[in-house]
Order: sequence, then C-alpha cells, then structure tokens
Amino acid sequence: MLAETNTAGIILVALGALAFALSIVAFVLRNRARGKKAEVPNALRPGPADAALETPLLNRLQGWGVVLMTFFVIWFPLQWLFEPSRNLSQENELRVLAEQRGAQAVLPYSADNQLGVGCTRCHGNELKGGVIPYTDPTTGAPGYGYPPNLTTICAGILDPAGAHPTIVSVEDIYQVIQEGRGDMPSWSIRFAGALDDQQINDIVTYLISISSQVVSNDINICTNTDAQAKALALAEKNQVVTEKP
Ligand code: HEC
Repeated sequence: MLAETNTAGIILVALGALAFALSIVAFVLRNRARGKKAEVPNALRPGPADAALETPLLNRLQGWGVVLMTFFVIWFPLQWLFEPSRNLSQENELRVLAEQRGAQAVLPYSADNQLGVGCTRCHGNELKGGVIPYTDPTTGAPGYGYPPNLTTICAGILDPAGAHPTIVSVEDIYQVIQEGRGDMPSWSIRFAGALDDQQINDIVTYLISISSQVVSNDINICTNTDAQAKALALAEKNQVVTEKP
C-alpha cells in the first residue's frame, strides 16, 4: 500500500518536474524568438489591411457563422425531439427509487430498516388486510372491521369486494394516510404524524405500484382516467342516495 502510494507519488513528482522543465525551455525559446523582432505592444500593432479583411478574413468569419448556424439548426430540434423520452426515462428512474423507499417504509422499523414505519403492523404482513379488528369510528363500538387490504387500494370504490368505499381517487389515498381516519393514525407531520411529504409520496407510489399488479386496469382508479370518472360518478350517485332518506 505504502509502496503503491510511493510509486504514484514518484511518478507524479517526475511528471511535475518534466512539465516544469518543458515550461522553462518554452519560455527561453519564446524570448529568443521575440528578441529578433521589434517589440510592439499588441494594442499598437497595425490591424489587418483592407484587402486582407475583405476577402479571406471576411469569408472565414462568414464560414464560421454558417457552421454555427448549421450546428444550432440541428442541435435544437434534436434536443427538442429527444426531450420527452429523456424526461420519461428520468421519471421512471425516480419512480423506481420511490417505490423502493416506499416498500421499506411500510415494513416495521429495525436496525436494518431505519426507514420503516410499520404499516404492516395493522394492515397485515403483506398489507393484505389486518387481523385485529378496530373500533367503529362513529359509535366507538369495538370489533367494527379489520384494517383494509392495501394491495387492492387502487380499485377504490369500484372494488367488487367493497373494501374501499371511500376511496375515489389517489388524492383520497393521500388524505387518509396524511390525516388518518378513525383508528388509522395520521402520518403527515402537518397532522401531528411522523412522515414528511416525500415519505408519504414514496409510500403512495409503492401502494399504487403493488395494487396495480392486483387490480385490473378497467377498475384501476389510480392509473386509468376512465375508471376515475366511473368512480366519481358512483360516489356522487351514492351520496345522492344516502342523502335522500
Ligand atoms: C394502528 C394501526 C394502523 C397503522 C399502523 C396503519 N393503519 Fe392504515 N388503517 C388502519 C385502520 C383501522 C384503517 C381503517 C380506518 C377506517 O376506515 O376508519 C386504515 C385505513 C387505511 C387506508 C384507507 C384504506 C381504505 O380502503 O379506505 C389507507 C390507504 C391506509 N390505512 C394506509 C396506511 C399506511 C400507508 C400506513 C403506514 C404509513 C398505515 N395505514 C398504518 C389502521 C392502521
């Protein structure tokens, strides 16, 4: 190890010495060449003559103009054309990272999983629904129901098993997690919880990803706009019905 650093050091010193010697040689040669001509400061030297300016120099400048124009004419459209796919792949990378963080967050805290907050403690080991019943949020009666299955959350109100009657959109998933509901604690720091927006974002991204594998696309309110519209219509219909009596 020491020998390695020593050889590297020796090589560096040798290169440095070589560069120094070369610069001295260059300096001496330049001074010698300069000595042959009269010393005229740059600002006092005559500019190019008209003839020289008008033809070759002007042509060269115009040539460079054309080259630069051509470069931009190609460069800008290319940038513009590839921007959407570049943004998309960046977005996908970010989403994969968010899903990974979310997957860790839902598991219990441990020395190996310091991001874990343990949604699984209530919603079951695989988030497929808990086994310990919770109290009725309105009457306080115990044994009301079980913490819902989160792997089907994206079916929302359209879920055939009716597991998520209050979930109409992704915003509702955010809202329950942020603000809590009944025995479900609030998680956002804005509602006395422990998680910041990024962490909740990661968890929701993860829930959308796992439930989109389970829920069929035609009732997926998280990713399918038709299903979203259907869910909204159903929610409005239900509200009208419950308000009537
Ligand atoms: C202390 C137990 C407990 C913990 C911990 C918990 N939940 Fe819940 N959660 C519940 C209960 C109970 C409900 C049902 C509340 C209701 O309907 O009134 C619920 C409901 C939900 C809902 C709404 C589901 C639906 O179908 O309406 C979501 C989403 C949710 N929890 C996500 C989470 C996430 C994410 C975490 C971890 C950050 C978490 N929960 C941690 C108990 C818990």
